Amino acid sequence: MNLKDQNLYYIGGVVRDEILGLPSFDVDLTFNGNAIEFAKNLPNAEILQINEPFGTVRIKLNGKEIDIASTRSESYPQKGHLPIVDKIGCSLKEDVLRRDFTINAMAKSTLTGEIIDYTGGLNDIETKTLRVLHDNSFIDDPTRILRMLKFAVRFGFAPDEHTQKLQDEYLANINYDMSYQRLKKELAETFNLNKYEAFERFVNQGIYKLISPLKFELPKYDFSGLIERYITPLSQKEQGHERNVWIIYVGLLPDISNLPLTKEEKQIVDEFRKLEKLCPPPEGGPKSLISRWGNDFEIYKTFKNIPPESVIMYSTINPEVVEKYFNELKDIEILINGNDLKNLGIEPSPKYQQCFDYILKEKISNPNLSKNDEIRLAKEFFNL
Ligand code: CTP
Repeated sequence: MNLKDQNLYYIGGVVRDEILGLPSFDVDLTFNGNAIEFAKNLPNAEILQINEPFGTVRIKLNGKEIDIASTRSESYPQKGHLPIVDKIGCSLKEDVLRRDFTINAMAKSTLTGEIIDYTGGLNDIETKTLRVLHDNSFIDDPTRILRMLKFAVRFGFAPDEHTQKLQDEYLANINYDMSYQRLKKELAETFNLNKYEAFERFVNQGIYKLISPLKFELPKYDFSGLIERYITPLSQKEQGHERNVWIIYVGLLPDISNLPLTKEEKQIVDEFRKLEKLCPPPEGGPKSLISRWGNDFEIYKTFKNIPPESVIMYSTINPEVVEKYFNELKDIEILINGNDLKNLGIEPSPKYQQCFDYILKEKISNPNLSKNDEIRLAKEFFNL
């Protein structure tokens, strides 16, 4: 960025990431004073957007769009909800003191590159410590408990004893009147990392209780490998369509009615619940797991038409059957279609579907069938 000013600072995550030697996708800039006035006086800058109540401004400079915030102090009259702005143009120190953790409370001068560290963030990065700035931090904003989990897993950091105690105290006394939209955003960022370790902590430390107090136990089966093998490649293939990794984890909780879900997320959870009802956990040893399902054709038919995310959720109930589906069955497709049957002189009717299923059953036990083999089977089915 070529915008330099003695009152303009990089702030928050970008400073932390640079010190950690990590790339940062989101560059936050804060003007020590009123950013809107600053932007208006900048030669060559085009003002694109002003948010007066928050003191933020978006400008275009040398073809680049840049967001600049004013230093501001905030308070939380309604705990757990968005803060209100108390003062725009407060000191840089007051601005950083409203933030979540010391590692996120550093500023870096755009002019000199000097790091301004009022809260000991540099030392906490050194010792890999997550530390809140005041005792009310989680009460004001419980999403910070999830942010702490996210940073712990992302960077391999750990809370200091006092911060851990504040988390435990909050979780023993949760105020459920909070912004679940904000909580959802942090849940998505945490669990889209697809680290089972995050889920273990989320469950074992009782962080899941932020969503609902209903008791939940950690599933014994670590399904992150299935996600990596079968969901991550889908996201890469269907560009722009982010697969819903986070909901595979969070949707396992018994009650997530507090969370605002998209239609797609809701469908993933609903299909899992249906499977859970229809095919409850097997009893007896692992050998009985697959046989309960009858045969491979039944497994294929059950899983093929539901989102793969729901199938992975079901692995917490019956991992063998899900592994079998993904490893051996998922990609089996028959090669003939309605036109091929028409060409055999068969009138379209519901018998078509029965014929396809007949061939599919054969194909599942012998995936190497060619199209000619399938046509032979179709003739056999219709007694031709
Ligand atoms: N912040 C906060 N409390 C929150 C969310 C954010 O105090 N609940 C502050 C932190 O100082 C944070 C900054 O706002 O660094 C920007 O927030 P955000 O962009 O959400 O987080 P980043 O720290 O940049 O983290 P990430 O890399 O996950 O985007």
